[in-house]
Amino acid sequence: MRSAKDFFSPLAVGAPAPVREIPAKPSRAIHFFDPGNPKMAAKVPDMVGSVDVLLGNLEDAVKAENKEIAREGLVKIGQEVDFGPTQFWTRINSLDSPWVLDDLTTLVPAIGEKLDVIMVPKVQGAEDIHYMDRILAQLEAKAGITKPILIHAILETARGVANIEEICAASPRMQGLSLGPADLAADRRMKTTRVGGGHPGYLVRADAPRNDAGELQYDADRTTYQQDLWHYTIARMVDACAMHGLFPYYGPFGDIKDTVACEDQFRNAFLLGCVGAWSLHPVQIKIANKVFSPSVEDIKHARRVIAAMGDGTGAVMLDGKMEDDASVKQCKVMVELAERLAA
Ligand code: GLV
Ligand code: MG
Repeated sequence: MRSAKDFFSPLAVGAPAPVREIPAKPSRAIHFFDPGNPKMAAKVPDMVGSVDVLLGNLEDAVKAENKEIAREGLVKIGQEVDFGPTQFWTRINSLDSPWVLDDLTTLVPAIGEKLDVIMVPKVQGAEDIHYMDRILAQLEAKAGITKPILIHAILETARGVANIEEICAASPRMQGLSLGPADLAADRRMKTTRVGGGHPGYLVRADAPRNDAGELQYDADRTTYQQDLWHYTIARMVDACAMHGLFPYYGPFGDIKDTVACEDQFRNAFLLGCVGAWSLHPVQIKIANKVFSPSVEDIKHARRVIAAMGDGTGAVMLDGKMEDDASVKQCKVMVELAERLAA
C-alpha cells in the first residue's frame, strides 16, 4: 500500500519506502449520510462500490435529540454492511461537546475494526489530536484492535488555521484535512452565509474606460470576475498537507442545485492540490469523481512528456513548449494519480 507521501513529497520520485503506511485508496468523494435517518441508512449498502468514502455523520446537521439514534444507527450499519472497496468513515461530535466521549467509547469497541478514519470537527491545535490519539490508543488496546484508526481534522476555526502545521504533525494517525467553510466563515466573522462556494460580492472589476477629458465612464460595460473566497485557506491547507504527507480536501458545497458552481469550486481545489471533496447529495459524488480524476487528455499529455524526456534530465521542446526535469515531476503527479485511481 502506498503512502500519501508518494503523491505529494518532492522526494517521491525514487524515494525509499515510506515509514508509515496510510490508506492510499482513492477518496475523491466523501459522501455524508445521517445514520439515524432510516431512509438514508437503507441506501448505504447499495452505495458501496459507487463512492470512495461513505461517512456516517454524527455532528452538525444531526439534532441534539437524535444524537443517540444516529450513533446507534452507525453501529448497526458498521456491523451489518460489507464496505468492500469503499472506505468507512465517521464524523464524531466536537471535542467540547457532551456527546463525543460516548461517540468514541461506543464506536471503537463496536465497529473500530471497520472504521478507516474518524473525522474530528473544529480542531484547534495539536492538543486536540493528542487527545484523540491517546483515547483511540486506549480504546483500541482494550478492544484488541490492531489496525490503527486514522484521524482527519476539519479546518474550521481561525485558531485551527493558525495552528495548521502542528495539527498535521501531531500524530502518525493523521490522514488529512478538510476545509470547513461554513464554520470557518462564522469563526472568522466573514460576511457570507453560504456553505462554501463563491459570493457575488467578492469580485474584481476591470478598469472603467475614460473619455478624452480623462473622465471615468462608469456606465460602460465592464467585465467582472468573481473571486474564490477560499483560495487562501485551500492553498495553506495544501502546503501543510504536502509538507506532512497528508491528503487535503475541499469540504462541503451547500448549494446542491447549482451543480455547475459546485464543479467549478471542486475543480479549483483539484488544481490547487486537493484530492477530494465532501458530497452532501449523490449528485455531488458524480461531480467529485469526475473532477478529482485527471482527464484522459491530461494523462496522455503527461505520458508523452515523460516519454520524450527519456532519463528525466535535460530539456526538450514539445509543441513549441519547453519541458524539463520539473515538468516530468508535474507529469508524474498526474500519471501516479491516474494509476492509483485505476488500481
Ligand atoms: C463543515 O463542517 C463546515 O462547517 O463547513
Ligand atoms: Mg462545520
